[in-house]
Amino acid sequence: MIDYRELQQQYEFDVYPKRDLVLVRGSGSRVWDSKGKEYLDCATGHGVASLGHCNEAVVAAVRAQVDRLITCPGTYYNDTRARLLEKLAAIAPGPLNRSFLCNSGAEAMEAALKFARITTGRTEFVCANRAFHGRTFGALSATFNPAYRQGFEPLVPGFRFVPYNNSDALTGAVTDETAAVILEVVQGEGGVHPADPDYLRSARRCCDERGALLILDEIQTGFCRTGRMFACMHAGVVPDMLCVAKAIAGGLPMGAVICGERIEVARGKHGSTFGGNPLCCAAACAAIDYMVEHRLDEQAAAKGTDLIQRIRDAALPIVREVRGLGLMIGIELRTRVKPYVLELLDRGVITLPSGTTVIRLLPPLTISDKDIDTVVNTLLDVLRNPSH
Ligand SMILES: Cc1ncc(COP(=O)(O)O)c(C=O)c1O
Repeated sequence: MIDYRELQQQYEFDVYPKRDLVLVRGSGSRVWDSKGKEYLDCATGHGVASLGHCNEAVVAAVRAQVDRLITCPGTYYNDTRARLLEKLAAIAPGPLNRSFLCNSGAEAMEAALKFARITTGRTEFVCANRAFHGRTFGALSATFNPAYRQGFEPLVPGFRFVPYNNSDALTGAVTDETAAVILEVVQGEGGVHPADPDYLRSARRCCDERGALLILDEIQTGFCRTGRMFACMHAGVVPDMLCVAKAIAGGLPMGAVICGERIEVARGKHGSTFGGNPLCCAAACAAIDYMVEHRLDEQAAAKGTDLIQRIRDAALPIVREVRGLGLMIGIELRTRVKPYVLELLDRGVITLPSGTTVIRLLPPLTISDKDIDTVVNTLLDVLRNPSH
């Protein structure tokens, strides 16, 4: 039998810290490795497979589109793309109704940064401590963690950082030169920290007063993950640009910037060869229909509340805090989480670290109550009686 781990090691230019598994199949809340071992996936490819793996509606839509038209550049109109753009406008908050389509979260951030500069004629950005917005130069310039930045400087000039959830610090940093304030609604990579709704509202007010734009990065929080279609809806805050990706297309690569009326970019100033390709658009149409029909926002809210409560109720001394919104959950330990994440993996539950002390859970929003029981029981058992 071919050892795919060895084969990949031989030829991959590897930039990823690896788990020692070859994943070969997925269905719903489960994935299987090459040895046939089954896992409950509470990481969903970093929050991508919100509808579960190989969701039937997404698979059917991709199958139908793949025989019809796979690629179609932005210089032409396309039926499937038009349908997706209409759907995005329908589910987006307030008057956000025109989308730029791309292929990833970082690409959505890059576009938003360019759109902010050209719309306002200003050059500076205010971002948050602990923020994560991606790995490309612009997105990395808005990312706080020095470990991601070091070795790549000089980054794009004009970015400054202020403490998250501190309205005074934010208001003090926004000037007449600020093109945009950039915030996650729940910081994901930074440790699962939800924004205070009042903080978001004061960021909106401050941007309006100073003529700056508000960019919300909902790449991880979007598409029902936190219990609303978009997490900003909890606070009733409408940004000027909403950056999305991850769960948008049921597992296929896609990103988007959903823009409000203030955003103006002349034709020819930006673009993407693959952006808005009909195959991913078909997947996204099916994924969004599925989210709306199955009320995944309500499911995430109910399941998330239950999961958080059960972990809190266990009152384990090793747990410092349980935070989250909907099915985006962070369990902060009083110690490093890596051995616990590895032990959970060994016990058949895939989780994700967030920083060094937080276990992050991003299960499929479709996860069954029975699977939630298994996740909670395994998690509490590993936290109570670690064998490492
Ligand atoms: C909040 C946030 N923004 C941006 C990104 C970057 O997205 P991508 O990896 O698709 O470039 C991520 C990815 O984890 C993210 O969580």
